[in-house]
Amino acid sequence: MHVTHLSLADFRSYARVEVPLDPGVTVFVGANGQGKTNLVEAVGYLASLGSHRVSSDAPLVRMGADRAVIRAAVTQGERSQLVELELNPGRANRARINRSSQVRPRDVLGIVRTVLFAPEDLALVKGDPGERRRFLDELVTARSPRMAGVRSDYDRVLRQRNTLLKSAAMARRHGGRGMDLSTLDVWDQHLARVGAELLAQRVDLVETLRPLTDKAYEQLAPGGGPVGLEYRSSAGEAGEAGDGADAADGGGLGHGRAELYERLLAALAGVRKQEIERGVTLVGPHRDDLVLKLGQLPAKGYASHGESWSFALALRLASYDLLRAEGNEPVLVLDDVFAELDARRRERLAELVAPGEQVLVTAAVDDDVPGVLAGTRFLVADGAVERA
Ligand SMILES: Nc1ncnc2c1ncn2[C@@H]1O[C@H](COP(=O)(O)OP(=O)(O)OP(=O)(O)O)[C@@H](O)[C@H]1O
Ligand SMILES: [Mg+2]
Repeated sequence: MHVTHLSLADFRSYARVEVPLDPGVTVFVGANGQGKTNLVEAVGYLASLGSHRVSSDAPLVRMGADRAVIRAAVTQGERSQLVELELNPGRANRARINRSSQVRPRDVLGIVRTVLFAPEDLALVKGDPGERRRFLDELVTARSPRMAGVRSDYDRVLRQRNTLLKSAAMARRHGGRGMDLSTLDVWDQHLARVGAELLAQRVDLVETLRPLTDKAYEQLAPGGGPVGLEYRSSAGEAGEAGDGADAADGGGLGHGRAELYERLLAALAGVRKQEIERGVTLVGPHRDDLVLKLGQLPAKGYASHGESWSFALALRLASYDLLRAEGNEPVLVLDDVFAELDARRRERLAELVAPGEQVLVTAAVDDDVPGVLAGTRFLVADGAVERA
């Protein structure tokens, strides 16, 4: 698919902007702080209902305005659609498809698909497990939009279970008799059921992504690999639960949902005493990690800056390969990527992505963008976006 028109109102630095887009490569060039990333951030938001830079919507609304609107015309094969999101920080966001009546924001997922690579992605390698869980979950949702519902069900069950555990912990501290444990049993089952569904998707994703990531890394940095991906489950091996830090290796985790359900239930049973003491859920997909390995070593804490950068980029390129292979080609967004790479890696990356259906590139310095990415150029300056 590709975006044929992007229109923003009160989004970030833009009061209003209209950007007609072609398939193929488009490069947004302009000095620092002129609003290049703001444009591609908006496209990414339509695809994931989130920004790659901030976790709340408030910074996305132009200072002084009370809501932002992102609108895009999208073409996939013969079909054209118009998607529109209105961001209302502090209130519910609104969505429309083809100007018709409102739908849930979640219903627009899958219309715009992106794989976005940005400097923030270094956190995939160097950051906390939460960064990698978000990476997996966004990709799981891009593969299968109905997983957005599963993710929000999981978050809800987790919140409710934590509330229950917290009140149990309070009751204990105040010398109460404790809680009715049968209620907790029911929440264990909910958590294990929804958790197993998410876990199954993540494990399957990691298996699929592993060879693609290794291939992408080899293309970017020949001879630098191999790289490995291991899903580490807080539910550990069957019958033995950890609390995250000492969780057993999840390398052998099966895909079967029934098996994962049983494993989660057993792990929850194993940590119940601790959970009641601490008042939080210690086992489940929200405590898992994706361990990235470069050769025999974990990338986190060991890989060099350049290696970490290449690893993060390889994960994004692998995601791109995966979504393409599964049918609907996403828009590839490369935000400020070329400045970070040496000349050889720049060329390799450019050759890899040049044939994409739509590639959006931002760069402060035009010369950093390799010649094979000749395409449409826009100059971004003083709040205006103009074809060069
Ligand atoms: N909510 C907002 N309201 C008004 N202005 C904003 C808002 N959010 C960001 N900005 C402004 O947008 C500008 C940043 O835009 P952006 O990140 O797109 O720059 P850029 O062109 O990508 O720069 P660089 O080359 O440094 O990456 C900053 O000047 C910032 O102050
Ligand atoms: Mg930028």
